[in-house]
Amino acid sequence: MSKAKIASTSPTAIDLEEGKKYAFCTCGLSETQPFCDGAHKGTDFSPLVFTADKTEKAFLCNCKQTGKAPFCDGSHSGLVKD
Ligand code: FES
Repeated sequence: MSKAKIASTSPTAIDLEEGKKYAFCTCGLSETQPFCDGAHKGTDFSPLVFTADKTEKAFLCNCKQTGKAPFCDGSHSGLVKD
């Protein structure tokens, strides 16, 4: 598998906590979008681990096509869910 699955064509609003680490799903297979649940095992993908810069509401990408992961950049516009 070299192309991420489109888990959803809209982002998830998440309350991030400053200093907290998150594992963002990059393969699109996780059942706990937008976060990793280990479903990437056996694929070429691995989660994107990031630390929140500040406490804020953020929109995390579920289509996995964003150019600024883990955040939504609007690339989901016009996509159809797999
Ligand atoms: S959900 Fe992926 S760019 Fe918006």
